[in-house]
Amino acid sequence: GNRKLWGGRFSESTSALVERFSESVSFDQRLYRHDIRGSQAHARMLERVGVLANGEAQIIVDGLDAILADIEAGRFEWKTALEDVHMNIEARLTENIGELGKKLHTGRSRNDQVATDIRLYVRDAIDALVADMTRLADALLDLAEREADSIMPGFTHLQIAQPVTFGHHMLAWREQILRDRARFIDARRRTNILPLGSAALAGTVYPIDREYVAEQLGFDGVTENSLDAVSDRDFAIEFCAAASLTQVHLSRWSEELILWVTPMFGFIRLPDRYCTGSSIMPQKKNPDVPELIRGKSGRVIGDLQALLVLMKGQPLAYNRDNQEDKEPLFDAIDTVSACVRLYADMFPHIGVNRETCREAAFKGYSTATDLADYLVRKGLAFRDAHHVVGAAVGHAVEQGCDLSELPIDTLRGYSALIGEDVYAVLTVEGSVAARDHIGGTSPGQVRAAIARARAAG
Ligand code: ARG
Repeated sequence: GNRKLWGGRFSESTSALVERFSESVSFDQRLYRHDIRGSQAHARMLERVGVLANGEAQIIVDGLDAILADIEAGRFEWKTALEDVHMNIEARLTENIGELGKKLHTGRSRNDQVATDIRLYVRDAIDALVADMTRLADALLDLAEREADSIMPGFTHLQIAQPVTFGHHMLAWREQILRDRARFIDARRRTNILPLGSAALAGTVYPIDREYVAEQLGFDGVTENSLDAVSDRDFAIEFCAAASLTQVHLSRWSEELILWVTPMFGFIRLPDRYCTGSSIMPQKKNPDVPELIRGKSGRVIGDLQALLVLMKGQPLAYNRDNQEDKEPLFDAIDTVSACVRLYADMFPHIGVNRETCREAAFKGYSTATDLADYLVRKGLAFRDAHHVVGAAVGHAVEQGCDLSELPIDTLRGYSALIGEDVYAVLTVEGSVAARDHIGGTSPGQVRAAIARARAAG
C-alpha cells in the first residue's frame, strides 16, 4: 500500500525519518493550481504529437480538473508518503481515471515540472504585486496632489534642514516604488520562459512540441538549455532581490511614518483601524502596521540570503537542495505582497496636520540657507554669507526666536546688505516657492510633476 511512484528498484521502504525529512508536500501544495495547469498543457501536447491517442488528453484534463475541484473544496487528502505536490496529484489522477493516468509523466521529470510550476507561480505573484504597486504609486500621487502646498521640514541627519512641501516628499516615495515595480516587471521577462521539456536534465526522446506547451501556459518562450533550465533558480533570487529592495523602501517610509505619528512630531494621523492600543497604557495608539512592515523587511532580506547561499555550491544539473527554495521564496512573496497591499490600502487615509508641519519647519531655522542665498544675490560671496547667517542664527537661538522674528536693525548688524525685503525670503512659503525647477520642491513643480505622471498614465 506504500508503493512509491519511483520504487521499482528499491528493496525496502523509506525510513519514516527520511520520509518526514524529505517531504515537501506540507509546503509545496500551494503550487497545485500551477502544477495542474502545467500537466494539462503537457497532456494536450502529448496527444498532439501522437504520444497519447486521440481523446486521451481530454480524459486526463478532466481528471485533473476534478482533482482541482477537490483540492479547492478541501476534499483532497495530501499524503506525506507521496513526497510532494506533483506525486500527490499524479497518484490521485491514476486512482481516479485508471491506467491512463500513468502515461501523464511521459517525456517529463519532476525536475522540469517543478521548475515550470515555480516559474508560473512567481509570474502570477509578480502580476498581482505589480497591480498593488501601481495602486500604491497612485495613492502617493493623490496624496501629493492634496498636499502640494503643505509645508513641512525637510531633514538631513534627521535635523531640520530646509522646508519642503509634503507633496514633494510623497513624490520622492513614489519614485522609489516605481523603480521597484520596474524591477519586478523586468524580472518577469526572465521568469516567464518555459523549462518543461528539459525532462530530468538532458531533454527527452519523445517528439515534444515545447512551443505549443509555452503558448498554452502563456510563457513568452522556451528555455534554450535543458541542464540550465532544471537547475537554476536565479529567477527566484531575482524576485527576492527586487522584493528586498522594495522592503527596504517600505521600511524607510515606515521609520518616517512612525516618527511622524508620535505626538512629539505630530505631522500625520493614521486611521484607528491601522493602529493598536497598549494593554497597560490607556493613552497609547501605536503605529503597528508601519512597525511590522519595518520588521518584516528583515525576513525578506533573509529569504534572499537563503536562496543565494542555497544556490552557490550546486553543480549542474538538478540537485535536491533546490527543494529548499520554496519556503524562503514563498515567504518573500507573501511578505512583500502583504506589505505593499497594506500601504496601498492605508495611504489614501493618512491625515496631514498641516499647521504642525508648517510650524516645525518654521521653528527649525529652515530658511537660513535662503538668507545666505539672499546675501549672495546682494553681492556677498557664498562662504561669507554662510558665516554671517550662522552668526545671526546663533543670536536667534539665544533669543529663542526665528530669524524672521529678528528686528531689521538686528539683522543689519550682521550685514549692511540686508534690507526690508529680507522678510519675504525668510518665510517658509518663499523658501519652497523659490526652488522652482524640475525636481525641486515648489508647489508649482510638484503640480507639474503630478501632471506629467498623470499624462504618462
Ligand atoms: N520536490 C522536488 C523539488 O521541490 C521536486 C522533485 C525532484 N526530486 C527528485 N528527486 N528529482 O525540487
